[in-house]
Amino acid sequence: MLLVTGVSGGLGHLVAERLAGRDDVVLGTRAPLTGARRVDFDDPESLPEAFAGIDTLLLISAGYGEDDTVIARHDAAISAAERAGVGHVVYTSLTGAGDHLPYALAHRWTERRLSASTSLKWTVLRNGLYAELLALLAAPGTDGRLTAPLADGRLAAVARADLAEIAARVALDPAPHAGRFYELTGPRALGGAELATATGTAYEPETLSEARKRISASGALDFQVPMLVGTYSAIAGDFLATPDTGDLHTLLGRAPLDPLAVYAEAVGAGTGW
Ligand SMILES: NC(=O)c1ccc[n+]([C@@H]2O[C@H](COP(=O)([O-])OP(=O)(O)OC[C@H]3O[C@@H](n4cnc5c(N)ncnc54)[C@H](OP(=O)(O)O)[C@@H]3O)[C@@H](O)[C@H]2O)c1
Repeated sequence: MLLVTGVSGGLGHLVAERLAGRDDVVLGTRAPLTGARRVDFDDPESLPEAFAGIDTLLLISAGYGEDDTVIARHDAAISAAERAGVGHVVYTSLTGAGDHLPYALAHRWTERRLSASTSLKWTVLRNGLYAELLALLAAPGTDGRLTAPLADGRLAAVARADLAEIAARVALDPAPHAGRFYELTGPRALGGAELATATGTAYEPETLSEARKRISASGALDFQVPMLVGTYSAIAGDFLATPDTGDLHTLLGRAPLDPLAVYAEAVGAGTGW
């Protein structure tokens, strides 16, 4: 039996869609969802019941919070999986190129926690940043300008649907993927000028300092400000520009979705991620 956590989130929801109707899959979420098990890593006492009878756990990272919060959540999930006799954990992590990102630490901690487990088999899906995330980070304004501190940096953005497809496939048949780290970045890198052209706007780079003030004034939570500024900084520094070197295409078994089209669609829908 496979349990997918976090199915009310953007990624988890797309995974659940792909697994709908299977009697060997159960869904987990904090949200009240008919037929799903309640899974809240902030409530470790609830996890033994949620993980009972589970062979494979698709652990969708619960990344919104300070490092200690996120680490405690993931530790609770992995410890509960060990105690429940889960055989294999598939974890959605962060691309290795993202080590400069403020939220990389909790992902690396979780990878280390999994690989130190004496009972669990594991697979790490090192997801690149979503094309849908770019639609928030580099959203065109109503003034016809696309203002963002990307300098001349680019991002090898990846469609979240492609990551969901891979997570579902690997979790359904995890054994061949045991002990593997997969780097799942997008097929090509996108920069501010290209994003502006795709949305009929003009790219206007801003500074990180201007962006930090804008984000702080937007009502962002404390932890979100360094998270977002650090993301801009890593893109501007061109640390996230390396496109897929094979894992994405191989695991999908088809060409990845075009991240520029996914970005433009998310901008048009006004949804971001
Ligand atoms: N690669 C990227 O560009 C990117 C961008 C944003 C985030 N992420 C990371 O990837 C994860 C999935 O992305 P997403 O787009 O699906 O994010 P999202 O739509 O914001 O969803 C947040 C996810 O975190 C889960 N979560 C939060 N607190 C939890 C808790 N206490 N216990 C269990 N689950 C909890 C939610 O589960 P429920 O609400 O169903 O309980 C949901 O799956 C995020 O949590 C974050 O770590 C990656």
